[in-house]
Amino acid sequence: MAKMWAGRTAGETDRLADDFNSSIGFDCRMYRQDITGSMAHAAMLAKQGIIAPKEAEILIEGLGGILEDLNSGKLEIDLSCEDIHMFVEEVLTARLGDVGKKLHTARSRNDQVALDMRMYLRDEVDGVIARLRALIGALLVQAKANRDVIMPGYTHLQRAQPITFAHHLLAYAMMLLRDIDRFSDARKRMNVSPIGSCALAGTTYETDRWFEARELKFDNIARNSIDGVSDRDFCVEFLSSAATLMMHLSRFSEELILWSSWEFKFVELSDAYTTGSSIMPQKKNPDMAELIRGKTGRVYGDLMAMLTTLKGLPLAYNKDMQEDKESVFDAVDTLKMCLDVMIPMIETMKALPENMKAAAQKGFINATDLADYLVKKGMPFRSAYKISGQLVSYCIQNGEVLETLPLSVYRGYSELFDEDLYEDIDLTVCVKKRISEGGTSPESTDAQIAYVEEVLQNG
Ligand code: ARG
Repeated sequence: MAKMWAGRTAGETDRLADDFNSSIGFDCRMYRQDITGSMAHAAMLAKQGIIAPKEAEILIEGLGGILEDLNSGKLEIDLSCEDIHMFVEEVLTARLGDVGKKLHTARSRNDQVALDMRMYLRDEVDGVIARLRALIGALLVQAKANRDVIMPGYTHLQRAQPITFAHHLLAYAMMLLRDIDRFSDARKRMNVSPIGSCALAGTTYETDRWFEARELKFDNIARNSIDGVSDRDFCVEFLSSAATLMMHLSRFSEELILWSSWEFKFVELSDAYTTGSSIMPQKKNPDMAELIRGKTGRVYGDLMAMLTTLKGLPLAYNKDMQEDKESVFDAVDTLKMCLDVMIPMIETMKALPENMKAAAQKGFINATDLADYLVKKGMPFRSAYKISGQLVSYCIQNGEVLETLPLSVYRGYSELFDEDLYEDIDLTVCVKKRISEGGTSPESTDAQIAYVEEVLQNG
């Protein structure tokens, strides 16, 4: 096919070079944004008297026809075109003749591709945020259902203090709220229109960049045309928010994997989100959670690829920047897929409170409360801490737990022990007493749930 730029160069490019240069294989996913952007451009050109109103009408109708035909599958993307921008323009010109050639007045593919990417990505950000809200919703349902379920809380993966399952899940809700915040914030700087920057220097035509920006629902325009075509910060910010979100999903996945192991058995994942083994009949593998954990690496890679592509690039447009797309598209696809699996996996996850409670009881996680009991009875904390430690050691040696150790044994360590000690070291009581804001008591977690619901409603 004759090249758009035939005129400057006479020689044909090599086929391999053509393939190498081409981005249509992946940027075709932006055809809607490309066509919508062109419609606004045609309208602006007519409004400014750069083309005739009738010509704009024909262009807009022609573009609408291409959009319809692509949506219905009547028109197929020609992969021999260099990119989606060229493809649309070529089809338009083939269909409309000379009028089609007028569309590219007062713009360049440099501002066009930046425009398409921003429009594409802001739509995808909205989709990611909607999914994050659904995931938080699933966490809230689980938190409410497990308000009073006691489990061990860990530090160093060692049983530390009793908490509720609700409290633990709500920690993830808070992380995901911050993710929403990060994506929304990135979207603000994304929603700035570069169109009209043209190749880099602006244009001699009397364009109305604000009109075009408003038509396309942008809040602002790029104030410097060189920056307009060179800026890919919005991709970096998106990818960095994506990497952070994946890090959260990966930590959660890791816990789901641990919790569904025979060693923990704190939760059971639905059969729909686990797999069996081809050889070991007892196996129920948390593959989906493992894959989410695994896919985190590729999204980190997408971020690094983007940063590295931009590093040291001179202004303004360089072909290197075509490499922005596959990183962004891969992260978008991965995020959406991971969230789409994570949401129903959490919705259908079954907590196993008996096992959580048993693990909490075996961990001596009320040893601090036992020491506090002696302090309450008048003993200095350091002495109380020592006796509490000796009692734990006794229990370990004799296969006992503090909750059921006979009072006679307790009294062998200190005369201060009385029947009421059992109440103080009861795990339910330990949890109930942690009433500080953000703490693990059911009242505190109710307040956390109310907070998350409020942010979701007003945010
Ligand atoms: N396919 C190109 C890209 O994705 C479009 C911009 C081309 N501009 C240029 N001057 N060659 O970056």
